[in-house]
Amino acid sequence: CGIVGIIGKENATDILVQGLEKLEYRGYDSAGIFVTGKNKQDYLVKSIGRISNLQTKISPEIQGTVGIGHTRWATHGKPSERNAHPHTSNNHQFILVHNGVIENFEEIKQEFLQNQRFGGETDTEIAVYLIEYFSKLGMTTKEAFKKALTVIKGSYAFALIDKNDPETIYVAKNKSPLLIGLGDDFNVICSDAMAMLTETNHFVEIADGEMVIVKADKIEIEDEKGNMVYRESYEAQLDLSDIEKGTYPYYMLKEIDDQPAVMRRVIQEYTDSMGKAIIDPEIIEKMTASDRIYIVACGTSYNAGWVGKAILEKMTDIPVEVHLSSEFGYNMPLLSEKPFFIFLSQSGETADSRQVLVRTNELDFPSLTLTNMAGSTLSREADYTLLLHAGPEIAVASTKAYTAQIAVLAVLAKAVGDHKGLEASKEFDIAHELSVIAAVMETIIDEKMAISQLVEEYLSETRNAFYIGRGVDYFVSMEASLKLKEISYIQAEGFAAGELKHGTIALIEEGTPVFGVITDKKTAAHTRGNLKEVESRGAHNIVIALASLAKETDQLIIPDVHPLLTPLVSIIPTQLIAYFATLQRGYDVDKPRNLAKSVTVE
Ligand code: G6P
Repeated sequence: CGIVGIIGKENATDILVQGLEKLEYRGYDSAGIFVTGKNKQDYLVKSIGRISNLQTKISPEIQGTVGIGHTRWATHGKPSERNAHPHTSNNHQFILVHNGVIENFEEIKQEFLQNQRFGGETDTEIAVYLIEYFSKLGMTTKEAFKKALTVIKGSYAFALIDKNDPETIYVAKNKSPLLIGLGDDFNVICSDAMAMLTETNHFVEIADGEMVIVKADKIEIEDEKGNMVYRESYEAQLDLSDIEKGTYPYYMLKEIDDQPAVMRRVIQEYTDSMGKAIIDPEIIEKMTASDRIYIVACGTSYNAGWVGKAILEKMTDIPVEVHLSSEFGYNMPLLSEKPFFIFLSQSGETADSRQVLVRTNELDFPSLTLTNMAGSTLSREADYTLLLHAGPEIAVASTKAYTAQIAVLAVLAKAVGDHKGLEASKEFDIAHELSVIAAVMETIIDEKMAISQLVEEYLSETRNAFYIGRGVDYFVSMEASLKLKEISYIQAEGFAAGELKHGTIALIEEGTPVFGVITDKKTAAHTRGNLKEVESRGAHNIVIALASLAKETDQLIIPDVHPLLTPLVSIIPTQLIAYFATLQRGYDVDKPRNLAKSVTVE
């Protein structure tokens, strides 16, 4: 979910709506705003679905100088207007937006709200009733809010308005992201700086457990014990033009096309003029000293982690394990003596991953976050950060962050390998290899029309599809199938080519599309054998192969690149396949149903 707020500007409504549009990547099941002002009327508008739906319900008279807004990714309670934020108390005095999950809402109901009738099914409602409950006991709004914060367990970013005092927004956070943006006689709040870049590029971070009083001309931060906290603001290194689509029909296509430039940026940021990998020596030392690397991530980042494992093990001689954050946190495997943790996260905000980082910090293990978002929670809380430098990724389906993660992991592997004086690493000219990758990516991207035709031919009717491969080609298959299913809704599976025959082959029917990814010499013949097996059972095979391993009949042939880096190029046609399949089926490429780009609940 995403939160915005503004205080001290005449056009609060427009600013809230524009901000919410920028936060739509965090969820778009429903949205709402509340605006008011001194001696002004109050307006509460909510709508199911996208921000554009909300906009159609906002008439010109809905104006104010203070307001809060929310775009929702449903957790408790289905997407409906009733469950949409902002939520109001019974006496309509308090208006609240919330991002996160209140874990003890049943207990709160039992203990404090037994006589309360609930209009919707969200946990946020409980919070606003609780604040009202304490206020009715005679507490000031600030006291009631602070008291509620001591009772509530879970993750939250809250913004609260008391209608009787529309010159203050009360804000608090725990585990969920929230920033205050500073303006000239106005201030804003937002889940992500991107939402308020049109208003300011000076932001103040809030730490977990803090409460902030936001007024038009000042902010006051208090820690849990009630001590005042002073914190410098920072300047967001984001350019408004980075977050515009330009002439592209969809962000996803722009972001696919960005990838060669991202590779060149990684070279620029992480290698010197001699092509040597430049990484913070402390990171290298800590990694060299460790006996095992644990990569922890979700979704696309998790898939990038597998490719990273292959590269890291080859270059550094250190064993690497890859884990899903949501599993690792609660079923921690037996760890080695000197583990080193790498968190992969485009957003740096994924709650599942953060929950693991909190544990590893408690255990005092060294950690590194690879993220696209400077200043994000996972970046702040890990010992070290390497930025992806991919530029803002807005489409929900991740593309350039995936390739950037692999590229940065490759640089890291090279740096550690060199430090250890390993032979494999000496021969690996990372700057050169990544520049070859950039050029090859461009060649594949130029083949868009051919890929679009291929999709029309093989995917227009199908309800399912498979990607198969071995080794890194299997890892690419996992990501390729995730891409396809998440946006085109074609049921897709990425499979280890050799494993298909042990069960899943039962799903192959006449016409089932099976994509074979072939970039590894030692397994190419075996994967081709597996493709034959499915072909004999009616499958339509489509082969993505490296030029040196290709056959004339292969549909997508990719120029050769360094054997460890083939995923950086073999993934590109699969991103385009997902894109065109979605377009041809008439779905929204950038905003697939049910998803959010940044999931800040566990
Ligand atoms: C969400 C997104 C995925 C993403 C995953 C991990 O589920 O929809 O596209 O891969 O989160 O996100 P992260 O920001 O941690 O890489």
